[in-house]
Amino acid sequence: MIRFTKSSITELEEQYVLDVLRNGILSGDGKYTPLVYKQFEQRFGIKNMLLTTSGTAALEMASILIDLCEGDEIIVPSFTFSSTVNAFLLRGAKPVFCDIRRDTLNIDETLIEGLITDKTKAIYTVDYSGVACEYDVINKIADKYGIFVIEDSAQAVGSYYKGQPCGTLTPFGCYSFHETKNYVMGEGGGIVLNEDRFFERAEIIREKGTNRSQLIRGMVDKYTWHDIGSSFLPSDILAAVLYAQMERFDEIMSKRLNVWNTYQRILESAETAGKLKRQVVPPECEHNGHLYNIILPNSDVRNRVIDEMKARGAACHICYVPLHSAPMGRKLGYEPSSCPVTEEYGSCILRLPLHANMTTEDAEFVADSICEVV
Ligand SMILES: Cc1ncc(COP(=O)(O)O)c(C=O)c1O
Repeated sequence: MIRFTKSSITELEEQYVLDVLRNGILSGDGKYTPLVYKQFEQRFGIKNMLLTTSGTAALEMASILIDLCEGDEIIVPSFTFSSTVNAFLLRGAKPVFCDIRRDTLNIDETLIEGLITDKTKAIYTVDYSGVACEYDVINKIADKYGIFVIEDSAQAVGSYYKGQPCGTLTPFGCYSFHETKNYVMGEGGGIVLNEDRFFERAEIIREKGTNRSQLIRGMVDKYTWHDIGSSFLPSDILAAVLYAQMERFDEIMSKRLNVWNTYQRILESAETAGKLKRQVVPPECEHNGHLYNIILPNSDVRNRVIDEMKARGAACHICYVPLHSAPMGRKLGYEPSSCPVTEEYGSCILRLPLHANMTTEDAEFVADSICEVV
């Protein structure tokens, strides 16, 4: 069976984890956390980053940092993971769902301005499948109305928009290093503070509302409670796994891109024959091979393809159930008709297996099988 996802773990990850266990500093911000930051600085020019316990936690921190209040409205795609919306729902803000583009499956930037009201506090964008949203347009709208943009770049570590790394395109970038992502630490994430003014408060929020980070840096001689916050910092054991992954960054990226490019090459003929559509990556976006989508004619075809591929030995999965029509979305009063493109695509997108353990032959087998099955 070709698994849907599988993280790539080597002796290097084992070696660094053992090092932490032996040096005995297992809590957050030990030896490996700053080493991870150095990797992100060298590779992407990121100066202010904080590791978190998850991508979800990074989004929650961003929601605290922009001081959301009861009744604030957030413009967000419905085609995303629950965490994007829970992060601000937990602070009392309300989602205003925006439809997606048919080509990139990202938020449709041409619809955003029509959704802005005097209650709009922010736009939460999602770089779905590691393809960046149209940030020149989105940031211009945000500037015009004086609202924030929070980039859910959970899937986009190592992707670029017009040469600029995802995660650095708005004041806040939120990465995930969950086991299913490109670079993993089991459960984990990171918040990128692209405006210096947010860094000090972010450190406090991450450390249960205390200035303990300042104590560790020798800036104060005792630490105490300053703000709201939570335990958003991950164990250094997990940071050690991520550090090894970052040292193997190019190897992991090239293996994933090899699978992605093999799919793209073989599935062209099925698209030309009108059997499926492939997601479009605009020329200004450099993607990270996070996942590969095909768009099938309808949900019946998708179900049959899933079953047939399983029988042939490859695990393919559906993507998001759109949030506005999921049980929680309905409970909040949203109607499936409010985002028609999201609704249509939610029922017919299929994700193919993609991970760094797959060989070219595996990818050829999956893509050839898809061509036969459709
Ligand atoms: C778009 C998006 N946002 C947020 C998350 C949450 O990340 P995590 O699982 O690290 O909390 C994910 C991960 O599945 C995601 O894909």
